[in-house]
Amino acid sequence: ENVAADVTTSSSPSPVTMVQDELKKIAAYKAVEFVESGMVVGLGTGSTAKHAVDRIGELIQQGILTDIIGIPTSIKTQEQALSVNIPLSDLETHPVIDLAIDGADEVDPDLNLVKGRGGSLLREKMIEFASKRFVVIVDESKLVDHIGGSGLAMPVEVVPFCWKFTAQRLELLFEEADCVAKLRICPKTGDPFVTDNSNYTIDLYFKKSIGDLKAAGDAILRLPGVVEHGMFVDMATTVIIAGDGGVTVKNK
Ligand code: 5RP
Repeated sequence: ENVAADVTTSSSPSPVTMVQDELKKIAAYKAVEFVESGMVVGLGTGSTAKHAVDRIGELIQQGILTDIIGIPTSIKTQEQALSVNIPLSDLETHPVIDLAIDGADEVDPDLNLVKGRGGSLLREKMIEFASKRFVVIVDESKLVDHIGGSGLAMPVEVVPFCWKFTAQRLELLFEEADCVAKLRICPKTGDPFVTDNSNYTIDLYFKKSIGDLKAAGDAILRLPGVVEHGMFVDMATTVIIAGDGGVTVKNK
């Protein structure tokens, strides 16, 4: 209801066959229009956010953006941002961020998100929590009717110690939603996927609704062994959606 208050849509010449990566780039470039010289900017992680980081680097290079300080949400983004000469800092030095730009795995009609299928949810949540404005960039494939309803993973970052115990407790917590908890494995090595914070990720799959998102998130966080979950409830202030029909900007 509060979401529909400020929706702008513009047509675009995008061909119907426009590939997903081009849509991601369109959303990313639109988000970078909100970046102003002198801002502290949260730099997201993933194939969509990558376009935003490249674009910010390009605008710095051209002298169009000056005095930008980037706060990266992962080691991978840190490396990418350095490669395009974005000056970087951290949350301790810059605890207030003007604007963060990041992708998402799912976006519901109230602009709640699932994030973390790319493995960086903890740093993303810390940095986006500290941001005055959080702009999410997605192609339209990320839109869902309700969080957890896509049948795809809802990630939870856990400490490696007794992770099987934590996985069992997570399944028990969401028994009524027919939850299956799976340890994320690195496809290249066959070993557990290790986050930038030296933790593991447990991916939750739900067959039924998990109900109230805030209550579900709070219950997850009360489990010893859990570090953070991938539901970003009431955090996005703007979502930019690129689709074959053009770009839609939704504001909270
Ligand atoms: C990483 C994330 C990403 O933002 C999310 O997975 C979307 O990634 P992509 O833009 O590659 O689809 O949350 O932890």
